[in-house]
Order: sequence, then C-alpha cells, then structure tokens
Amino acid sequence: MKNITYINNKFVKHSNAKISVEDRGFLFADSIYELISVFNKKIVDTDQHLNRLRLSLNKIKIKYNFNKKKLKQIINKLIKLNNVVNGYIYIQITRGVAERKHEFPKKYKPTTIIFTKKLNVDKKIYEKGVKIITIPDLRWLRRDIKTTSLLPNILSKQLAVEKKAFESWLIDNGNITEGSASNAWIIKNSKTIVTHPANNKILKGVTRDTIIKILKKNNFNVKEKPFNLIEAKNAKEAFLTSSTLSVLPVVKIDNYNISDGKPGDITKKILYLYNKYISKNKSSLIKELKIA
Ligand code: PDD
Repeated sequence: MKNITYINNKFVKHSNAKISVEDRGFLFADSIYELISVFNKKIVDTDQHLNRLRLSLNKIKIKYNFNKKKLKQIINKLIKLNNVVNGYIYIQITRGVAERKHEFPKKYKPTTIIFTKKLNVDKKIYEKGVKIITIPDLRWLRRDIKTTSLLPNILSKQLAVEKKAFESWLIDNGNITEGSASNAWIIKNSKTIVTHPANNKILKGVTRDTIIKILKKNNFNVKEKPFNLIEAKNAKEAFLTSSTLSVLPVVKIDNYNISDGKPGDITKKILYLYNKYISKNKSSLIKELKIA
C-alpha cells in the first residue's frame, strides 16, 4: 500500500512530497519539528506535542496560522491511510521558501510537512538495558527549542554508535544535561529519581513530563535538579526517556556498570506504569475524530 504524506495542504504519495532547494528549513535549518509516537494504534500525548509545536513556532517567531484541530485531523487521516499500528508521526514547519538571506523574509508562507513511519523498537533493549557514553555538550544555549538544527545531536549519537553504545549523555559545566535524542534520569535510592530541570539547557521532553506526573502520582520523590557524572555512576539505577523509546534502562555508563549491569526493578516498574498509561490513553485520536 502506498504511503501518503501531507505537504502544504495536500495529501500526496510520500515519494512525491518535495520542497524547494530554497526552503529555509533546508538552507538554514530555520524550522522546528515534533515527533509523536503511536503505540498499538494509540497516539501518545498529542495535545502536549502540539502545544510544544506551537511554543517552538513562537520561540523562533514563525508566523503561523496554528490550528490544533486541523493538525489533529491531518494526523488522524495519515495514521488511517498509512495503517500505522506502531510508529510515529513527524511534523516539521519551516519559515518557507525565500531568497537566501539570513534575516527573516518580509513575507513568507511556512512549509508544513507531516508524515508517518512504521517502527517496531527492538524489545531486547528493554530486557538487556543499554550502554551509554558521556561526552561534552557542544550545543547552543537554546536547547529548549525543538529545532531541526541537530548537527551536534547527530554527531554525538554517531560517536555513541561508533563506540558500540546506544546513546550519548551530554555534559555541560560538569552536569549531565540530557541525551543526544532523549532525556536522562538517575535513581538515587528506591524513592528518589533525578532529572535535569527543564530550562534552556535541555529539551523539555513530553515523555519526561508524563513520567514526572506518573512518578508523583505513585509517591516517588522526583527531583528536577542537575546531576554530575559521579552521581550518575554511583546511581542505583538509570534510564532514558523519549517518545520513540518510552522508558529505556541504562545499565552501563562509560564502561561502568549500573545496577549490576542489568535493568533495575524500579526502572522496570516505571516502564510498566508508562505502558499502562499509554494503553489507557484517552487522548488517542484514532477513534475520536472523523477523517477530514
Ligand atoms: N527526540 N531531548 C532531545 C535532545 C530529544 O531530541 C528528544 C526527543 C528528547 C525527548 O523528548 P520527547 O519525550 O518529547 O520525545 C529529549 C525525538 C524522539 C527525535 O528527535 O527523534
């Protein structure tokens, strides 16, 4: 079955979805994005992702006729057309096509693309846990913006792969900020869970926010405060979160075993609670909205 993509008010065959070489998203990464996961036909935290999309547009001052209801309808239509059971929805909005000048064009029409991908994350990584490496955080100081300007993230992820690790945790001023494409967490004792505060130094993950809510509801003590490498290596357990990976146990940091090199019980419990949250997720659009 052919894969359909949305581009600027049109639904087209994915291979026919094209942008101009003068699109500012292509030339300058003058664009922002969102990635929303679909687990077993449930679209996870749609409102939170669309709210962050709107926030990113505002932060980089893209003038956009933001219509949440319309975006939800497009997403729902694509999920159905492309028969996505497990995978994700990718949304990108750029400042549109204009002559290559750094300043914003006086007039522009933003480019909007939305596509879906099927994805089945390897279950083994949850059973075994993953290894991460730590490297300096070389990014700019507006990491709170979900921009497609991701070169430092890409380079740090590639370094992890080259070192046979799953992810890189990034160190800024002695503290671990986050992963190249995920948020970082440590468990200090059975009830205290630490993650970097949501400021300009990290992306405020939607999964991160949901996990914080779940943890608080289940009487864990969540501390949003910076932690360093020594604290991470001495942690009882560690894990990372993102929309595509949900809650993934970290069992090795720079060749240093965490929780005996096996996923810990608390992390497993958090993953269980998150999966339960997803399966009960009422914000799932699939049944709620009619195809536009
Ligand atoms: N990345 N931090 C960074 C730098 C990220 O790129 C991501 C997600 C996260 C987690 O955010 P969320 O829980 O909202 O997915 C944190 C996505 C999945 C990506 O770019 O593929």
